[in-house]
Amino acid sequence: MANYIVLGAQWGDEGKGKIVDMLSEKMDMVVRFQGGANAGHTVICNGKEYVLHLIPGGIVSGKAVNVIGNGCVVDPLTFVEEIEYLRNLGVEVTPEKLLVSSQAHVVTPVHKYLDRVLNKKIGTTGRGIGPAYGDKVHRTGIRLEAISDGSFLERFREHAETYKQISAQVYKEPFINLKEAMEQIAHAAERIKPYIGDSVEKIAEFVRSGKNILYEGAQGTFLDIDHGTYPFVTSSSTSIGGAFTGGGVFVHFDKRIGIVKAYTTRVGEGPFPTEQDNEIGRRLREKGHEFGATTGRPRRCGWLDLKMLKRSFIINGFNYVSLSKISCLSGFDTLKVAVDYNAAGEPLYEELPGWPEEVEGATDLQQLPENCRRYIDFIEDYLGVPIGMISTGPDRKHIIYKEQLSNLDVMASGT
Ligand code: IMP
Repeated sequence: MANYIVLGAQWGDEGKGKIVDMLSEKMDMVVRFQGGANAGHTVICNGKEYVLHLIPGGIVSGKAVNVIGNGCVVDPLTFVEEIEYLRNLGVEVTPEKLLVSSQAHVVTPVHKYLDRVLNKKIGTTGRGIGPAYGDKVHRTGIRLEAISDGSFLERFREHAETYKQISAQVYKEPFINLKEAMEQIAHAAERIKPYIGDSVEKIAEFVRSGKNILYEGAQGTFLDIDHGTYPFVTSSSTSIGGAFTGGGVFVHFDKRIGIVKAYTTRVGEGPFPTEQDNEIGRRLREKGHEFGATTGRPRRCGWLDLKMLKRSFIINGFNYVSLSKISCLSGFDTLKVAVDYNAAGEPLYEELPGWPEEVEGATDLQQLPENCRRYIDFIEDYLGVPIGMISTGPDRKHIIYKEQLSNLDVMASGT
């Protein structure tokens, strides 16, 4: 038995999808516990690329039961689209393989409208996430259980009418076409119905019987509603605490895996002390293909911020690090790493020598140039947690193991 959690240690887009997919081969269950279709996890498996927004990454490997937990917000339209998308790529999605919590909240077309109207300054993904969580906290939300008990369409009509009135009085943008929205959501609700159930019981059953469970975080620690750079955050708990409320079951996580990108990126507005809005940032964006998987927006890029990461490690209690995108740093003469901030909040940098050699696809530490290894050692020493895996490229095979993931013996599987 082994329970793992994978979380983004920065502002999201750290490369969680690949690690989740690799691990999920060995898992009996994969759980998403927060967020919704704002996530964009890219999984490359047997040369095929899959971009998932809502459905857990474990769906691609085949064996695991995948759970969308009560802490998530679910857009039935995206859910149906994603199932179709996977089917077209040869991945069959059945209710035996995918369970959606009846306690999760529905994201409606009205929420997406509100996201556009209300959240412009945040630079959201436009997926209706904030307004859906807002309704949940206001106790005016609609849970998926309304689809199961037949009250959904009536609840949706009330919800839409209420916001239509508010919109007419307060907002400038025209409201959505209600008739069209109603038809679309009614159709999607029928399709999602067989997948809805009691996820708390299901997770608890797997915990009791000692199965292997993986929790898949979405976004990153500094987008957390409490611990992130508020108000420039998402509306859910993206750090480890969210796993307990959003999955609903106490799980002891043997490995708390922090995914750390070898530099820093962020999408949308908000503070970013080590941002390089210059040639360096452009180089990182190009080398790292830093464009949002959900919105296609260019990501803001900058140097690694260890001071910030240290806080992420305190919050999440990481005991294993997976370092990603080291191959995107080749070709810089010098690399800067923030180790502290001054009184004005500006980063104080340590400079480390770069390396000209390309390292994409390396599978052994010895294949990395000395300066690259020094960079990795510097991060490890600062954070005080072992860097167990180093991802050197998009494919599953592009990985170096420094420390084997003990219980699951992932390394021995030859992934
Ligand atoms: P929302 O989650 O759509 O409300 O967006 C709130 C903030 O979180 C914005 O800055 C988004 O760019 C950011 N965000 C949401 N999801 C992701 C993600 O999966 N990766 C990176 N940033 C994200």
